[in-house]
Amino acid sequence: MSKRIPEPFRIKMVESIKQTTKEYRVQALAGAGNNPFLLRSEDVYIDLLTDSGTGAMSDRQWSGMMLGDEAYAGSRSFYKLEAAVHDIFAYQHVVPTHQGRGAEQILFPALMDRRKQVKNVTNPVFISNYHFDTTAAHVELSGAKAINVVMPEAMDTQAYHPFKGNFDLAKLESTIQEYGADNVVAIIVTVTCNSVGGQPVSMENIQAAAAMAKKHDIPVVIDSARYCENAWFIKQREAGYQDWSIPAIIKEIYKCGDVLTMSAKKDPLVNMGGLCCVKERDDLFKAVQVRCIPYEGFITYGGLCGRDMEALAIGLYEGMNEEYLNYRIGQVEYLGDGLIAAGVPIQNPTGGHAVFVDAARLLPHIPSHQFPAHALANALYIEGGIRGVEIGSLLLGRDPKTGEQKASGFELLRLTIPRRVYTNDHMDYIVETFKDVLKDVKQVKGLDFEYEPPILRHFTARLKYVK
Ligand code: F0G
Repeated sequence: MSKRIPEPFRIKMVESIKQTTKEYRVQALAGAGNNPFLLRSEDVYIDLLTDSGTGAMSDRQWSGMMLGDEAYAGSRSFYKLEAAVHDIFAYQHVVPTHQGRGAEQILFPALMDRRKQVKNVTNPVFISNYHFDTTAAHVELSGAKAINVVMPEAMDTQAYHPFKGNFDLAKLESTIQEYGADNVVAIIVTVTCNSVGGQPVSMENIQAAAAMAKKHDIPVVIDSARYCENAWFIKQREAGYQDWSIPAIIKEIYKCGDVLTMSAKKDPLVNMGGLCCVKERDDLFKAVQVRCIPYEGFITYGGLCGRDMEALAIGLYEGMNEEYLNYRIGQVEYLGDGLIAAGVPIQNPTGGHAVFVDAARLLPHIPSHQFPAHALANALYIEGGIRGVEIGSLLLGRDPKTGEQKASGFELLRLTIPRRVYTNDHMDYIVETFKDVLKDVKQVKGLDFEYEPPILRHFTARLKYVK
């Protein structure tokens, strides 16, 4: 059992959350088409849908918001944000965006255009340890294919590996050979690797992937939603980094990249915001700026208010604080250990931002096309008002050409922990609720569609229980 690390903050403002009855929740979920995405948040007691934009800002961030300069162009707050990026990442060019996918939509087509100008591109691909869903969607919208080459250990929830987010380097090399280096528009390093459980990537692996990219003249993009958590894992688990500070590890990681995209709604502790930063390539920066204006807004605000940029400039520093990260990742581990002790199979070890429950193991009686992890999410909500999210067949969807359900490597329930929001007592409550779910787990039924949207179906699908 991990050590329970007390919260390194005291609470200055509270928001009430409501306990409802089981009967009420059965009704609420039925009204939401048995899809927790369609619940009203006030009907949820503990909301573990995502860690994105759901964190609590500090008193310093809130006071920073009063200093926001709302000028359309050349805002003082932009220059503060730019200075923070220079200091932390040493990337020269900074474009704010409204969130992570805003950065993706202005960067990927620009990368594609630049590559076509200098290489013979016939069958473009992006290769990542694992593309997040919106990242893969923007790769496809730019006319390329998204290929994941994460290490195979990542798919076995029961096998321990300290860096399950690592690239399978042999597969990275063979994929570059297969498509031809000219066709590889970029290599995307996702830190931590959200889709396989918030698992970190080691420094050695990042450096090796970047060296391979350099050898083949391929740009490296760092998808930076959870870079502080990744740096913390490197310090804890990778030989040689124990005496490094978190900011020094972060700087070392970013030496390996050419561009960073960031959803600032995660590690940098703001409710909305993103960044697209280019280390030095002036041509690429200009191309990104050109796309920023019609899609995100003028180049010194990119979809953000001046006050948002103030809060982000502060949050970029707070997110690197080691005391905070000890507590933050410790809390996720504490929940994971509690669930393991209760007999719940989870992705081992726990990641930085979430515990991923292996629903395929827990509900072997529900086939993947009846969405075991979604069924488990519903059972958890009905039992205790806790909202998690399915990461499995429902999310993956159908092959657009054949209409067949795509085969998912896993059926996971993600319990995503918002930052600085819930206490360790809430974690205990989640474990207790799970114990109650386990008592009747064999009775949990699978689901089928009542309404299946054509794309990104998991958000708005309505489902019914299979008899
Ligand atoms: N990259 C990663 C690794 C992400 O996890 C996300 C978002 C994005 C990019 C896109 O950023 O949402 O700000 O546009 N992940 C959220 C999640 C939505 O719940 O995991 P965004």
